[in-house]
Amino acid sequence: MTIPWYHKTTIYQIYPRSFMDANGDGVGDLRGIIQKLDYLKDIGFEAIWVSPFFASPQRDFGYDVSDYLSTAPEFGTMEDALQLIEETHRRGMKIVFDLVLNHTSDQHPWFLESRSSRHNPKANWYLWRSPSLPLGEGLGVRVKPNNWQSMTGGSGWHYAGERGQYYWASFLPFQPDLNWRNSEVKKTMFDIARFWLAKGVDGYRLDIFNTIYKNEEFRDNPFAFKLAPTPNDPSGFLQKAKYSQDQPESFDLAREFRKLTDEFGKILTVGEVAAAREVVRTYAGEETNDGLTLVFDFEMLQFKFTAEYFRALIEDIDRHFSPPFMPVYVFSNLDKRRSIHRLRDDIRKAKLLAMLQFTVRGVPCTYYGEELGMTNLDLPFKNALDPIPHKYTFAPRLFFDLMDVTVNRDEVRTPMQWDESRNAGFSVAEKTWLPVHPNYPTVNAKRENADETSLLNTFKRLLKFRRENITMQEGLLELLNGLPKNVLGFIRKTASEERIVLMNFDERENEFPLDSSECVFKLSGNEELDQKAVRLNGFGGMIVK
Ligand code: GLC
Ligand code: CA
Repeated sequence: MTIPWYHKTTIYQIYPRSFMDANGDGVGDLRGIIQKLDYLKDIGFEAIWVSPFFASPQRDFGYDVSDYLSTAPEFGTMEDALQLIEETHRRGMKIVFDLVLNHTSDQHPWFLESRSSRHNPKANWYLWRSPSLPLGEGLGVRVKPNNWQSMTGGSGWHYAGERGQYYWASFLPFQPDLNWRNSEVKKTMFDIARFWLAKGVDGYRLDIFNTIYKNEEFRDNPFAFKLAPTPNDPSGFLQKAKYSQDQPESFDLAREFRKLTDEFGKILTVGEVAAAREVVRTYAGEETNDGLTLVFDFEMLQFKFTAEYFRALIEDIDRHFSPPFMPVYVFSNLDKRRSIHRLRDDIRKAKLLAMLQFTVRGVPCTYYGEELGMTNLDLPFKNALDPIPHKYTFAPRLFFDLMDVTVNRDEVRTPMQWDESRNAGFSVAEKTWLPVHPNYPTVNAKRENADETSLLNTFKRLLKFRRENITMQEGLLELLNGLPKNVLGFIRKTASEERIVLMNFDERENEFPLDSSECVFKLSGNEELDQKAVRLNGFGGMIVK
């Protein structure tokens, strides 16, 4: 059985606004990414995923597209985009774009036309519904078409006087959902996907894939006692997202989209789906992996740093994504607090987490800056550039912290910290689009590059080990029993090789018997192996043959 590249790769997520600013206007851009490809190659990542840089009013910073086939001027030109593809390939790396199929910007010409009247060629391109009490209107009462809540809270129905109707938006009001039951819409969006694949793109991250289809009759969602959506359950705001998300047609779309990408060879697709693990798996296929090649499992974004937690996680993930499926391991992204936050800023723990991410059976996905231990920047909701916190300025921050919900995504989108020079080397501008985190003089790539024991160099060593040991990419996984309580261990094995991964989630050292004689990787350097026993220092880790 040969495993396709997209099931073995390692992914680095770039948020283009914050990665590198090549022209000094304070906003990261495509030329900036090109300048830093060698940095990523040097760490050892094999693929990059670039968040959207297409034409957009930037109200949700690119996740509100107004033309899928052109680039936003602040990010660069079409030529820059093509050069980015070429330069990535020249380094033997793959490039994944971010495709928003669910919605467009309300400034997209399609939507401007669609909302202009009830009768126009694009009248049916979005989800339009009349108020549900038609007679009420004469009396000045307007009732929304149904009770559905948007993913960010509050009704997702928004009134457009031109048509005397509401349109549906799963996310924010300026992101109207496309009507995928309209065959013209589907064909147009498929052609867009083909356009970039034909230009050489190796895959797509698919934004909120699980909301693309909604119940055809727009039936009311049932009540659920749940305040906020969680990574493994989209229900929230006191309702179950029964009819507004995860409809059977979305699973069919995953298979259809796969057929489309298959026209271009081995193409990676990774779906953004916030749902229970069984549901997440269904987007990859039922019996065989004939749907999306990968799907994020977001429950682990809320990991607990214990051996028990990860043991249970790996067991369950591996069961759901047994071959020919492959799981993704992701601990932070553009929407959720950075992983170091859960580790109480302890770099030793961050190293162990990286060890787990790069040795477990699955595709690791790393958000920019995680390799440096970049931290969240506390910013007040009222000055946020992210539109979401403005909906929640009435509630105290502590409330969301207790619920473990990230509201202000600016916190995790601050500029990449390259060195100790002004603006952390990200930009020469007077002012960067978001402030640089004040810890940049100590947390930056240049400094960590020079320090052999840094988190960055730990990432490099782990990625190198993964690349050089095919077992770490292809091997099956078996959890080990009988280890000390805070030690997690598993075997990765192929027909010809075995590697045993041992990780100590304890602050104190742990010593235990082990029948192995050859240590092939030490996380901190202080781990020891003699004939009959392993000694792992606090948060230490070792790989043996
Ligand atoms: C996804 C993206 C998020 C964006 C939203 C709407 O959740 O990760 O950043 O705001 O979709 O497109
Ligand atoms: Ca720029």
